[in-house]
Amino acid sequence: MRRTARILTLMAAAVAACLAADAKAGQAAYDKSCKGCHGSDGTPNAGLAKAMKVDMRDLKSAEVQAASDDDLKKVITAGKGKMHPVAGVTGKAVDDVVAYMRSLKK
Ligand code: HEC
Repeated sequence: MRRTARILTLMAAAVAACLAADAKAGQAAYDKSCKGCHGSDGTPNAGLAKAMKVDMRDLKSAEVQAASDDDLKKVITAGKGKMHPVAGVTGKAVDDVVAYMRSLKK
């Protein structure tokens, strides 16, 4: 019984470590591919929004955070409205960036 508890604790720690690593890797990809338009913490680049004539939502807002992970991934890979798909972010990097976006939540 005690051994099971220890194994579970180790597994939980491993899962937590993986999640943290994902958000961290996601931040690097985000800084490279998203920050210019969405700011380092999800706050829209006001000048860009004005130039593109679009009302950008804050990525940390409740509205954006209410979207499912799949919806967020789709915005990155397929684009949304005036945002084009982000070419440099594919595969696991998409999951990592979503993990990072979740960490921005207020
Ligand atoms: C060239 C500028 C630009 C880049 C680069 C960019 N975006 Fe966007 N993004 C936009 C604009 C503009 C919108 C609003 C689109 C609309 O509503 O027509 C948007 C919308 C979004 C939305 C939807 C928010 C909502 O209103 O529901 C998400 C999520 C998002 N971007 C995430 C990302 C992520 C993650 C990256 C990087 C992988 C990224 N964007 C890169 C300009 C950009």
